[in-house]
Amino acid sequence: MAFWRHLREEPASVRIAGPADRAALSALLAATWRRQGNLSAEDQVSLLQDGLSPIAFAGREAVGFLGLSQRSPAGAPPQTWVDVALVALDADRQPDTTLQALIDAAPALLRRLQYTGLVCLTSLAWLQDGLARGGFMEQDRVITYIHNDLGRVAAGRQAAELRAAGARDGDVILDINARAFGPFWQYDDAAVLSWLLTADHSVLAYLDGAPAGFALTTDSLPGNYAHLIRVATDPPHQGRGVGRQLVADALRHAYQAGAPGLALNTQASNAVSRHLYESLGFRSTGQVLSVMVRRL
Ligand SMILES: CC(C)(COP(=O)(O)OP(=O)(O)OC[C@H]1O[C@@H](n2cnc3c(N)ncnc32)[C@H](O)[C@@H]1OP(=O)(O)O)[C@@H](O)C(=O)NCCC(=O)NCCS
Repeated sequence: MAFWRHLREEPASVRIAGPADRAALSALLAATWRRQGNLSAEDQVSLLQDGLSPIAFAGREAVGFLGLSQRSPAGAPPQTWVDVALVALDADRQPDTTLQALIDAAPALLRRLQYTGLVCLTSLAWLQDGLARGGFMEQDRVITYIHNDLGRVAAGRQAAELRAAGARDGDVILDINARAFGPFWQYDDAAVLSWLLTADHSVLAYLDGAPAGFALTTDSLPGNYAHLIRVATDPPHQGRGVGRQLVADALRHAYQAGAPGLALNTQASNAVSRHLYESLGFRSTGQVLSVMVRRL
């Protein structure tokens, strides 16, 4: 893009998007490569209905969109985070100017609604740079681990009794999830329950007859790795071998399901889980997502 075209750029006007902007948003998404977020048509519509997402127009054409999605409140006192679920910027315009205008339009409304902050997970350098200029800071990084020597997992100490979990265990799993993860990484109950219901291998660990931890694993698509979606031990039971047993069980499951390996994500700052995974033979893939946060 020639520099002179940017100089002639008509300034964008920004407002909060609504359902009537669906066609303009679809046209922007279809035309640009400068985008992040692969949402279904239904999810795009619900973003427009939520009344939180800024959209930028030049004339009648949408040139930028910041799709914001509110999480359920978590923790005490409750924190309410807002995910940047979709970003689209007209590739023929200066990305930073449009992104900045979109970011500037959001905080006043979000502060009024008493949200805690905005969060965007991204590996895209242009988006990371633009968010940093808009006041976001890298709070953490999400890293991916894989294990592809599934046949060689030592049995280890059997601290807990592992039982298959299902929909009936939803409340127990949500309780452990809420106690084990800080508000930022808790995710909505609906998300955790949908992982429980769609996982191929859901397990609850019991210590002395009481639920102490859980793990949710999906099988591989043909040729792909199985994925350990979530593992947690209730804090009072941590350090007693439950987590190690749950991850070893997920590895065994992936092996029996014929997956070439088991993948998982964790935060770079999560020293306990990284120690656990590395000691079980997981290796970092080098794939990194920046956790960009702007507190309100
Ligand atoms: C990660 C987690 C599942 C580990 O569960 P756990 O039942 O405590 O794990 P284990 O008792 O099997 O211990 C695993 C290793 O971590 C170490 N560890 C456990 N708790 C620890 C702590 N508080 N501080 C330092 N090391 C700790 C143990 O010493 C052990 O290492 P070792 O076998 O070499 O001695 C648990 O800490 C947890 O639920 N954390 C919050 C949720 C989370 O981070 N999930 C995973 C990332 S997405």
